[in-house]
Amino acid sequence: MSTSDPKRFFGKQLLIWYRKERRDLPWRRSRDPYHIWVSEIMLQQTRVDTVIPYFNRFVDRFPTIEQLAEAPEEDVLKHWEGLGYYSRARNLQAAAREVAEQYGGRVPSGKKEVSGLKGVGPYTAGAILSIAYNQPEPAVDGNVMRVLSRYFCLEDDIARPSTRIGMEGLAQELIPDGEAADFNQALMELGALVCTPKSPSCAECPVMELCAARLLGRERDLPVKTKAKKAKPVFRFAALVEGTGPNAGKVLVRQRPETGLLARMWELPHIEVSDAGDWESLATGKIRLESALAEDGVKIRAKEQIIGEAQHIFTHLVWNIRVLSAVAEEEYVADRTAYEWVGPEQFENYVWPNVFRKLLTEYYIHAMNSNKE
Ligand code: ADE
Repeated sequence: MSTSDPKRFFGKQLLIWYRKERRDLPWRRSRDPYHIWVSEIMLQQTRVDTVIPYFNRFVDRFPTIEQLAEAPEEDVLKHWEGLGYYSRARNLQAAAREVAEQYGGRVPSGKKEVSGLKGVGPYTAGAILSIAYNQPEPAVDGNVMRVLSRYFCLEDDIARPSTRIGMEGLAQELIPDGEAADFNQALMELGALVCTPKSPSCAECPVMELCAARLLGRERDLPVKTKAKKAKPVFRFAALVEGTGPNAGKVLVRQRPETGLLARMWELPHIEVSDAGDWESLATGKIRLESALAEDGVKIRAKEQIIGEAQHIFTHLVWNIRVLSAVAEEEYVADRTAYEWVGPEQFENYVWPNVFRKLLTEYYIHAMNSNKE
């Protein structure tokens, strides 16, 4: 093949390589736009290996857009539990409702319409239009920008929106006629399998002959990306309140507010302290937890004893959580909707952020083992 035109060379070689090397992934077994859409939303911040079982369970439980649109939100979140970034699931369901109502349950094939769906940005719109409808639209994410930065030896900062826009133009030019679906997936596949962030496998790369960065020995310097701001640490105390009397063996949990971070998911009651210094003081944790819960009408007595510690990492925030042991006073029975007593057998009826799932699972296992002794 002629190597005189690096852009044509790239498209041709990449397609040949992809047809030999492509992974057999569940969403590649169909062209169903709904399946492509669900997979692309799940893959946004999550690795392929993690997504596969979630994707299979999700499309099994919600096989059509209408079924997703009609499902209780809690059910959708339960099928997303552990994947994180729950607004993705909420937006997906809101958009499924739009598709059911406005487009007769079919994912629209117009750029304007698909881009207008909740949670669908330029990358996802391009992925749906190209993979499901074979339209020559670019789908440029971080992996694709890494590949293009290297192949063309581009020094632009990929954290800048203007760089992404430029890359979208370039990626669109590269799409061979009639091959948008395979070409865009091939580009993603090259970024995932060969042109990896730290040690690219250039010897296995189908376009290494004309890769400008490799020819200059610069492949490990690219892409240029300014560092995102460090996530801000916050410090929290949670109470693991054991029930007594009719609530023996159960733990007090509460539902998060209707809006905001982890909306409507369940958690151990907890409070935030102002800094790492306060977090060192278990007496501070005890007093603050007791008074915060008392304000909610829940009387507890906390101990200055740490029974668990965990971190929850969000994009801009890191929660550092210490769990103090506590008991309910006066056989308190949860009568406020936000609070409930939960035993191990009801645990799976609730949707938990990872950190509380982990803390509660550890607790229940520990409690069950010590009951046996
Ligand atoms: N990452 C993002 N989209 C993908 C896809 N369709 N296949 C594999 N990895 C991906």
